[in-house]
Amino acid sequence: MTQQELIEVDLGQRAYPIHVVAGGLDGLGLALAERFALGRVMLVTNPVVAVHHQGAALASLEAAGFEPEVIHVPDGEGCKTMQTWTDLVGRLLDARIDRVTPVIALGGGVTGDLVGFAAASVLRGVPFVQVPTTLLAMVDASVGGKTGFNTPQGKNLVGAFYQPRLVFAATHVLSTLEPAEFRCGLGEAVKHGVIRDAALVDWMEEHSAALRARDPVATAWLVRRCCEIKAEVVASDEREAGVRAILNFGHTVGHALETALGHGSLRHGEAVMLGMLVETRLAIQRGWCREPGMLARLIHLARLLQLPVHLPEAPLMHADRSFRDKLDLAVRMDKKTVRGTLSLVVPIQMGAVQLQSATAEDLVALMDLTESWENS
Ligand SMILES: NC(=O)c1ccc[n+]([C@@H]2O[C@H](COP(=O)([O-])OP(=O)(O)OC[C@H]3O[C@@H](n4cnc5c(N)ncnc54)[C@H](O)[C@@H]3O)[C@@H](O)[C@H]2O)c1
Repeated sequence: MTQQELIEVDLGQRAYPIHVVAGGLDGLGLALAERFALGRVMLVTNPVVAVHHQGAALASLEAAGFEPEVIHVPDGEGCKTMQTWTDLVGRLLDARIDRVTPVIALGGGVTGDLVGFAAASVLRGVPFVQVPTTLLAMVDASVGGKTGFNTPQGKNLVGAFYQPRLVFAATHVLSTLEPAEFRCGLGEAVKHGVIRDAALVDWMEEHSAALRARDPVATAWLVRRCCEIKAEVVASDEREAGVRAILNFGHTVGHALETALGHGSLRHGEAVMLGMLVETRLAIQRGWCREPGMLARLIHLARLLQLPVHLPEAPLMHADRSFRDKLDLAVRMDKKTVRGTLSLVVPIQMGAVQLQSATAEDLVALMDLTESWENS
């Protein structure tokens, strides 16, 4: 990959560029200056990201001639709540932003989702910019315009489709990311391969050592390829009336695990990896998947990437009726449930998925995730 590549999300009037930069945040200000008139910009981040990257973001914006102002939101999935969104909207209004003041999210998927929904709702919409700082946000969350927060009923049940005007993914910021968080991004990247690009799965298998070692060249290549895939899917179905639903592979089970265990107790990328395995298991059991070896291959890849393939506490939890009830309710609350029927994205072969109807019972029965489940 060259130092910087531009990928277009082709959405007509709402089209926008994704800058994938094999470098730091130095070019952020200039990238913004290509899209916005100089003036005030709101930089919203959290205290963890601020320590490492707020200075570079501010310096770049100021060097380009912007007047950035900083707002901090609390960190973590547990803070992706209505309260945090309410506080942020209040802070933006107190700052007297106007309808042309860009609001920049500097952070992972949690910060991006929350700031995006605040940008969508304050003054009925102000320009929004995504500067993802986790691998998961670079390969997935920052592209496509899904914004929102969690409620006690489930993940991401309140929000809006609201596209950013620009995404700036500078892969050097990942050097400060915890290893476990980096691995979560690899989980979402596996998803892109399974749903759309078998060659990406081959590539991840071949380059698993480089990915584990966070090799910058391999990382930048992965971010670019995943952004291309996501941009293509989003461009063909912005509001998930059809094909975009395939991006939810692994998420029905993943979200149910996150909700039942309590938001924040399992990382999103880990939950999605487990979700992909369970949903593949169902697809094989029902004969929808034409590659019976696919589950074993995905488990192998998850192990290569040091992602979880079972939950240590699973046997105890799954034996507990109230935990199974929580899982059951969480699956029923999935946004893809229409009139009581859940549309589940299932793999039919590597690189191709389809929608099938499933019930909450089908899935919960397969969510035992004990050490031996993979042999079942
Ligand atoms: N909108 C979408 O399309 C979409 C898609 C996938 C996931 N998501 C959402 O994304 C969220 C998960 O995002 P995530 O995995 O990025 O988690 P996250 O935002 O919680 O980030 C993980 C942790 O890493 C810290 N961090 C971020 N960047 C860092 C850096 N460069 N250096 C050091 N620490 C850093 C964060 O502050 C946080 O503590 C979930 O809420 C999920 O629902 C949204």
